[in-house]
Amino acid sequence: MKQARRIGFLLLLLAGIYAMPAQAQQNDAIRPGEVWNDTDGNPINAHGGGMLYHEGTYYWYGEYKTGKTILPEGATWDCYRTDVTGVSCYSSKDLLNWKFEGIVLPAVKDDPGHDLHPSKVLERPKVIYNRKTGKFVMWAHVDSADYGKAAAGVAVSDSPAGPFEYLGSFRPNDAMSRDQTVFVDDDGRAYQFYSSENNATLYISLLTDDYLKPSGKFTRNFIKQSREAPAVFKHEGKYYIISSGCTGWDPNQAEIAVADSIMGPWKVIGNPCTGPDADKTFYAQSTYVFPVAGKKDAYIAMFDRWNKKDLPDSRYVWLPIEFKDGQITIPWKAQWSPASLETSNK
Ligand code: DGJ
Repeated sequence: MKQARRIGFLLLLLAGIYAMPAQAQQNDAIRPGEVWNDTDGNPINAHGGGMLYHEGTYYWYGEYKTGKTILPEGATWDCYRTDVTGVSCYSSKDLLNWKFEGIVLPAVKDDPGHDLHPSKVLERPKVIYNRKTGKFVMWAHVDSADYGKAAAGVAVSDSPAGPFEYLGSFRPNDAMSRDQTVFVDDDGRAYQFYSSENNATLYISLLTDDYLKPSGKFTRNFIKQSREAPAVFKHEGKYYIISSGCTGWDPNQAEIAVADSIMGPWKVIGNPCTGPDADKTFYAQSTYVFPVAGKKDAYIAMFDRWNKKDLPDSRYVWLPIEFKDGQITIPWKAQWSPASLETSNK
């Protein structure tokens, strides 16, 4: 009898623990490759992401990956996927503590033909702000489960935290578009960078003034060099692009290139990563680079460490870019803090 009561008490205690809300947590450092929790205590779910800084707040958008990772039947390559859930958004003022703002572009579950149906592919969402229209514009890679559609999808919102209205998809400049990013230059012009021609060649496409379509002006770059995962930034008047090779979800060596003009020509510098596993980009792949607001020469490079057989458990590798003696490097750091970024990193 006594034992039954003790077991009952234990069960009640366990039920109580499970019913407790996840503990809010203060993050004090960036630890690449570890599980990062949001302010609700849940793992941050924003893969292949991009960053927008707007009115003192950072907004991190990414692929919200949940559920089982599957290899479609009859697949001839490693096209592991999860059902499309949507694009998530997190906000932060310190780049350490992230509040979940929700799924800002959700999957469309009731229309199997829709780009955002769970059976499709939705990757690498990036959001830019258009000063003229006051709209937040999202570009993303939308695809069929076998990656044959190779298109860009566009969505708009009046607020950085969504909801975004999906406008549709197309092949920009009549060319395939898979891995992609968007970049706004100082003059307000925006560009889409995308792996095209079956990932062989990287296109740079000037967007229309409203950022919703290609303007028709584009260049072909890194021709037949099979670059993907483009991440673009500008430093001291020069343009830089970090990209990966083309090996599916598996890591390879990153490459950085520089140009005086955003449409090219680009000059390959080499692998910016240094330290252990630098030849495999620390087992990760580039997705975005952004300047830290208010700090000179402080840029953060965002990478994804994909876990192809369990994609929702893919991790984030964020590292500061260093500019020293005319060299650009991304040294490995197991732990670091954005507050410690030097104000004059020279
Ligand atoms: C590599 C790309 O960079 C990822 O975004 C994803 O499309 C995988 N390929 C799919 O294999």
